[in-house]
Amino acid sequence: MSNLPLDRLVPAHIRLFEPYYPSMPDRELMALYGLEYLHRLHNNENALGPPPLVRTRLEQFHAGAIPVYPNGDSRELRQALAEKFGKSSEQFLVGNGSCELISSVVKAFCEEGDNIVTADRTFAVYEWTASFSGIEARLIPLNEFAFDPDAMLNAIDSRTKVVFLCNPNNPTGTYWDKATMCRFLDAIGGEVIVVADEAYGEYVDREDYPDCIEMLERYPNLIVFRTFSKMYALAALRVGYLCASEELVDIVRRAHVAYSVNTLGQLAAAAAVQDDSSFVADTRTMVANGRHMLRTLFTDMGFEHSINEGNYAMVKTPMSDTLLHRKLLCKGIMVRTMTGFRFPNWIRISIVQEPVMEEFCAAFRAAFPNP
Ligand SMILES: Cc1ncc(COP(=O)(O)O)c(C=O)c1O
Repeated sequence: MSNLPLDRLVPAHIRLFEPYYPSMPDRELMALYGLEYLHRLHNNENALGPPPLVRTRLEQFHAGAIPVYPNGDSRELRQALAEKFGKSSEQFLVGNGSCELISSVVKAFCEEGDNIVTADRTFAVYEWTASFSGIEARLIPLNEFAFDPDAMLNAIDSRTKVVFLCNPNNPTGTYWDKATMCRFLDAIGGEVIVVADEAYGEYVDREDYPDCIEMLERYPNLIVFRTFSKMYALAALRVGYLCASEELVDIVRRAHVAYSVNTLGQLAAAAAVQDDSSFVADTRTMVANGRHMLRTLFTDMGFEHSINEGNYAMVKTPMSDTLLHRKLLCKGIMVRTMTGFRFPNWIRISIVQEPVMEEFCAAFRAAFPNP
């Protein structure tokens, strides 16, 4: 150990924060478990991707562009998004994944003594970002696996700056319909910033699902997050964006790192926006089939599950989630353990192509010889 005066140098909220350790690279994991293949079903990626136009544009990319910095604020991508959504390009801010944008929003609006409000069992990065920024995260219990609008409204006080909604929710897949979203935003009345994280919005094919980008004129305190990591299968390139009024984007931009989105990511994301193939429809079909398989399996085995929107499903089993994770990994399948996310002994499974889902179902069944 060094003699660095860490007690003085490191703020208490950083000392108390438990770091997140991502999983090992495939090669190391495969060597460790003696595997010839590994299906990663733990990060909700789209196994079909990327869309055809993205593949073409990436193949045309010249290595000669690599020594040159990317465009500092993803101008062409913002223009493509503006065209797609009928907004101005100044209403978009692009980040190194939407995770970076969570951080930019917290930095832009919160200072010591402020708080953010979100759910206790949702995408953990809202809570983590607030915590490691020294901001209180008020975590409101889910009600029957869904965000609880009344309890969230009750938790808001004069120091609440941002409410983070995950719609549909990762990991439960529940969503607020248009009426619930509007009632909530009306009740808040513009006093607090509301982030609607629609990371999995493109997977939802329901009439009553609110497209919050369409609601921005009515609610000037609303910020919508989307990502290219999920439906558009660009997770390796790290591109996400937010859409809000020009006034709010101008504020968040001040706390946002310019040049954080690389050239390949910008180019691929713009191609994904312009792709007019059947890619999204094909993905939705794949997910609908996978959902059906998992629902049938878990119901048949008598296990509680939460399978709703999004490209993921959750199941609770009588086995410890770490043990089940290891058993499945021995068969080349990696799932997400959920105890650390306040769902003791649940696992979350990403929904991918049928043959892989069949492999998952067989390995899962084999893990419970006498369920
Ligand atoms: C709800 C939600 N929001 C945001 C993200 C972050 O996505 P990105 O890859 O754009 O940082 C994720 C990733 O899992 C997510 O589940």
